[in-house]
Amino acid sequence: MIAPVGPEGAGLLAALHAGGIGEAGPAWDEAAFASLLAVPGRIALVASGAEGPLGFVLLGRAVDEAEIITLAVLAGARRRGIGRALVAEAASHAAAAGATRLFLEVAEDNAAALALYDAAGFVPVGRRRGYYGRETGAVDARVLALALTPSCGA
Ligand SMILES: CC(C)(COP(=O)(O)OP(=O)(O)OC[C@H]1O[C@@H](n2cnc3c(N)ncnc32)[C@H](O)[C@@H]1OP(=O)(O)O)[C@@H](O)C(=O)NCCC(=O)NCCS
Repeated sequence: MIAPVGPEGAGLLAALHAGGIGEAGPAWDEAAFASLLAVPGRIALVASGAEGPLGFVLLGRAVDEAEIITLAVLAGARRRGIGRALVAEAASHAAAAGATRLFLEVAEDNAAALALYDAAGFVPVGRRRGYYGRETGAVDARVLALALTPSCGA
């Protein structure tokens, strides 16, 4: 099941981020999620299973463009289709809100996320040099985009 959470879910998002972001980046705390969710157009979608919450996506939208701000699935819940379902739900939510393209940035050493987004139909549209700091040196971000199909009635 995937359901939206509002600012009251900031603590849950911080816990899921801490358990899911891994080497993809630093974990963001509850205050960070509370302020991210206070911005108009932001929404978090949480995926849950019988065990409870397992992952989430944080989505932003401005006019006709949307962005995946972060996406994480708990380390013990991966390769069960949760990330794919969250991306699909984010795309459908963004399209329903009037967005025509969904963007994201992903580190070029993040093979799992690159494979997920490639399978979901994202295409490369840019690169940000040295965007992610790593102990071993900076890593470029690839900027990917997905064209969104207008939702029914739009
Ligand atoms: C990237 C991430 C969200 C994927 O979540 P997930 O629930 O494991 O992904 P899914 O099970 O839905 O996988 C969907 C497809 O993505 C690809 N994929 C996912 N993980 C992969 C991996 N480790 N290696 C290769 N391909 C992978 C596969 O094509 C997979 O389909 P398949 O299982 O049928 O082969 C998860 O690994 C994660 O949270 N990573 C840390 C945080 C992160 O990198 N976030 C993205 C930042 S941009």
